[in-house]
Order: sequence, then C-alpha cells, then structure tokens
Amino acid sequence: MPSGESGHALKVESWGDPSILVTEFPDIEDFHGQLIETVLRLEQDPEFTRHFDGHVGESKVYHVERWDCPAARLIDARAKALFTSALKKENAVVDLSWASVYRAGNYCLPHSHFRSAASLVYFLDLGDEEAGGRFLFTDPRLKICCRHEPGRMTYPVGPQVRPGILMMFPAQCVHMVTPYHGTRPRITMSWNIDDKALPGNPLPN
Ligand SMILES: [Fe+2]
Repeated sequence: MPSGESGHALKVESWGDPSILVTEFPDIEDFHGQLIETVLRLEQDPEFTRHFDGHVGESKVYHVERWDCPAARLIDARAKALFTSALKKENAVVDLSWASVYRAGNYCLPHSHFRSAASLVYFLDLGDEEAGGRFLFTDPRLKICCRHEPGRMTYPVGPQVRPGILMMFPAQCVHMVTPYHGTRPRITMSWNIDDKALPGNPLPN
C-alpha cells in the first residue's frame, strides 16, 4: 500500500469498476504549494513543455522524474507505489509522466493512453469551483458507463474528486475532460506505468 510519511498504509478503494482504483493523500498542505509552483514554472521551460491549442489542455509539462523538486519526487514515488502494491507487481517502470495545465476553454476529447498497462491521474488543483474540467470515463467496456444495456455506453461517468486523490485505471480505458471555464489553472498529473521498460518513443506525435 502507498504510505505517507507516517508509514501508515492508505486505503485504496475501487470506484465504479474493480479495475479503477482510488486513494487519497491527507498531507497535501505539505507539498501541493511547491508542486503547483514547479508545474507553472516549468510550463515556461521548452525543455519540459509542449503547448497545445486547448484540445488536450493548454500545456503538458513532461518527465516528472526529471523535475528538480522534492514534492515531485514524493508524488512520483507514490504513483509507482500504488501500481506495485495494488497490482501486485515487483516493478513499476514509468513509460511517460506529465502534468496537464488547463485554462479557460481547454478540454480533452475522449482518448486512451499509449503502450502501458496502467494510467494514473493525480488531482493537484481543480481550479475554480463549478467551472467544469470534470474527468469522466466514456468506455463501453466499463459497466459503469453502460447502465441501461451492456456494451452500450450511454453517459460519461466519473468520481467526485478532490485535490490529493490519486486514481489508477487500465491505460486502454477511454476517458475525457469536460471544458474548463475557470480562471485559476486546473492542474493534474499523469503517469503511464508498466512493469517493464517498453521499446520505442512514449511521447505522442
Ligand atoms: Fe488521458
């Protein structure tokens, strides 16, 4: 189980489907400020960042493991710990990791992730309240998306999330982010993790 500095195991629960796992860290006051500052600073650094036209958020800041930031090392270790403990794997090899920054008008169309077995998303800052930016699953392979008839995806669904929640799901699960309308940046972090190194380039074109 992933643990905080206290060493106590954290509760990991499924949400909506046995393959979707959620845990929550109680110590976000200790490191979120540093982590948010680092994401917004590195967003200006072309070595780490690619900018988009808003269809997958405004910016992605890649390679969490290379950020010179203790808070980033902490959450990176927690993501890998959730993978190894919950999936009973000996190794957690990060194929690609990044932060996503959403500003007003940004959204993300339904998609799945490349290559890896598992994807993880950490909710760092949800931005302004009641401003959209909902993370939702849209996959007919998930029963939770097919409440009226098996295999017929009728409505997107997702958990209520807060800053400090880390969620893991099979990387092939289709998901999306609804349009965000707030003024404060909405920031999430993501990892694609497998139990072995994968050949080829993990960065999308
Ligand atoms: Fe995604």
